[in-house]
Amino acid sequence: MKGLCSFLFSFFLSNLTALTIAGDGDISLKRESAAKYKYIEFNEFGRPEEVLLIKEENPRPLNDGEIRVKVLASPINPSNLLQITGNYGSPPEFPATPGSEGVGRVIEISESVKQVKTGQLVLLVGGGTWREQIVAPASQFLPLPELENLDDKLIEQLSMSLVNPVTAFLILNSFTQLEEGQWLVQSAANSAVGGYVIQLAKQRGIKTVNVVRRTGLADDLIAKGGDVVLIDGPDLVTEIKRETGYAPIQLALDAVGGDTFGRLANSLNYDGTLIVYGVLSGRPANLNTAITIFKDIRIRGFWLAKWYEKASGKEKKEIFDQIIPLIVNGSLAADVDSRFTVDEITQAALRAAQPGRNGKVLIVSGDGG
Ligand SMILES: NC(=O)c1ccc[n+]([C@@H]2O[C@H](COP(=O)([O-])OP(=O)(O)OC[C@H]3O[C@@H](n4cnc5c(N)ncnc54)[C@H](OP(=O)(O)O)[C@@H]3O)[C@@H](O)[C@H]2O)c1
Repeated sequence: MKGLCSFLFSFFLSNLTALTIAGDGDISLKRESAAKYKYIEFNEFGRPEEVLLIKEENPRPLNDGEIRVKVLASPINPSNLLQITGNYGSPPEFPATPGSEGVGRVIEISESVKQVKTGQLVLLVGGGTWREQIVAPASQFLPLPELENLDDKLIEQLSMSLVNPVTAFLILNSFTQLEEGQWLVQSAANSAVGGYVIQLAKQRGIKTVNVVRRTGLADDLIAKGGDVVLIDGPDLVTEIKRETGYAPIQLALDAVGGDTFGRLANSLNYDGTLIVYGVLSGRPANLNTAITIFKDIRIRGFWLAKWYEKASGKEKKEIFDQIIPLIVNGSLAADVDSRFTVDEITQAALRAAQPGRNGKVLIVSGDGG
């Protein structure tokens, strides 16, 4: 995500009011810089609770151009678990350090660093974010402006800003341009991506059919802005037709695979598009290919990693200029189920793999940062 770094850096720098911590704050940041810190590593693929190791290290002196950042929060995403079990699109090299995004506070800078200040918040983009401290060149962090409404809740939301909100934005906008009043259908609607899709769609007047696999989620998804919530099952297509008044559905977003994939495809109107961006069931798609002929259905895959690799700085800037302010003003948010420290990584990973969570599992600093 190096291209992303340089663009965001200039984006945030242009909005930046320097944050400084004076007096006792300086002393406590120096103390943190000197303390031993823990991080997570794995050297083989397997169940997270069996292969994840808690390592401890003494901080090393900074090289010129580097900064030291205390990690405040970093989510466990399904892709992180897939990487640990060896089922992801791009396998890591060992020793591997998991975690793909997060937010932290700068606790030390080297002499030539001018673009960030001690005490400032930065987004973490370089990977290996399940740790207490990160040392890297300043250019590999994305400085955040001073935020008036900054509290623990916003810090947590910012820690999740580079993966799922961007995915939701792109799958909603890149393939089919829906107009106000049109419908989309999505599976795994109670996932973080699903929640962001609901919120973004609502802001544009797009209606959503939200398919989940269990009861008890309708109130929350309607409160987020969803229009219809349905439990997945053999009658899904009929229920979608009934609940939408037989509205033509042009866009389906699937993160489940298996039978769900086929049902979403069946619910599409002529010329509709089905975007597959996850395989949570682990099952191959069960699709009646005849409908792709007679309804001229388009099936497209989406992988954010590829987008970060290929998109221009301008394209990334356009999207971040829209997403980050929405996170800061609270109109884009994900639920948080639970928080664990780096020391508690086993419990954290087990919780993240459990069905029926109430949102994201976060790795947090434990002392509020
Ligand atoms: N392609 C990309 O670039 C990209 C980028 C970001 C995310 N993703 C994918 O998007 C999906 C959602 O990610 P996330 O971080 O938003 O997830 P998340 O917030 O961690 O939530 C996962 C959700 O999936 C649901 N789920 C799990 N297995 C399911 C199944 N077999 N059928 C239906 N629902 C199921 C869970 O529902 P319960 O509460 O019922 O357990 C839970 O709500 C994942 O597959 C992830 O890999 C892909």
